Amino acid sequence: MWDNFFFIGLPYITIVLFFGGIIYRGFSGLMSEYRGKWDWTVRGDYLWTTRSTGFFGRASIGPASLCLHWGIIILFFSHVIGFIGGAYNLASWVDFFRWAGLGAGILFLYGISWALVRRITIPQVKAMSTPDDYIVLLFLIVIGGFGLYQSAVELVFGVSYSVGPWIGGVFKLQPDVSKIVGAPLANKLHIIFALLFFAYLPFTKLVHVFSYPFGYITRPFISMRKYVALKK
Ligand code: HEM
Repeated sequence: MWDNFFFIGLPYITIVLFFGGIIYRGFSGLMSEYRGKWDWTVRGDYLWTTRSTGFFGRASIGPASLCLHWGIIILFFSHVIGFIGGAYNLASWVDFFRWAGLGAGILFLYGISWALVRRITIPQVKAMSTPDDYIVLLFLIVIGGFGLYQSAVELVFGVSYSVGPWIGGVFKLQPDVSKIVGAPLANKLHIIFALLFFAYLPFTKLVHVFSYPFGYITRPFISMRKYVALKK
């Protein structure tokens, strides 16, 4: 019964909340000064911002930001390649996931742990943090932790051969839970936490992922000057 809920029901709940939530967040200003009014712009509510912490503790922003962003980008593409490889029995694609995922996973876990340490130890960053800042970091540490635990500690790999076809079934509206019931527990927990995370994502500051490139085209230039230059 639980397998049915987690691997048939939950994926669809996640899909609805993920896409519905992005549309809702994008086009409504219900949570902001536009309270009660629909605003036809993604920036209508000021909760879209990443609430950048880069002004504080500059020495540690580099490892945190670079490692977690590059880590997650490589993880995203290697998961897609691994699942396609798993669904079509392409061993080299699944192998690629293994090694690229391992490297990117270590990079990611290092970066995301730094991000949490920054939030807890730098007083200004702590003061500006809201609960969702901590919740998204903890989610990502748990998801990345289970992924790495499975492949680097339990040395189990190749679950993509089951997960690829299962995901294919979900998108074809013919979910087949039998494909995934035999997966190791660490991997099932990895997937369950990832599904919960994706359902929650549209309601956090992580929505910036969906507008990141567009803002750069239209936003005004930001003048970056060194302090010494300003004193002249
Ligand atoms: C619903 C979304 C996700 C699914 C279905 C999924 C599924 C999987 C599977 C099946 C594996 C093992 C692959 C194999 O044994 O062939 C894996 C590994 C891994 N996943 Fe995910 N994952 C998801 C989301 C995420 C997210 C959001 C992260 C980032 C925090 C992540 C990080 C990792 C890591 C670090 C590994 C280990 C990679 C390696 O050592 O090669 N996963 N994932």
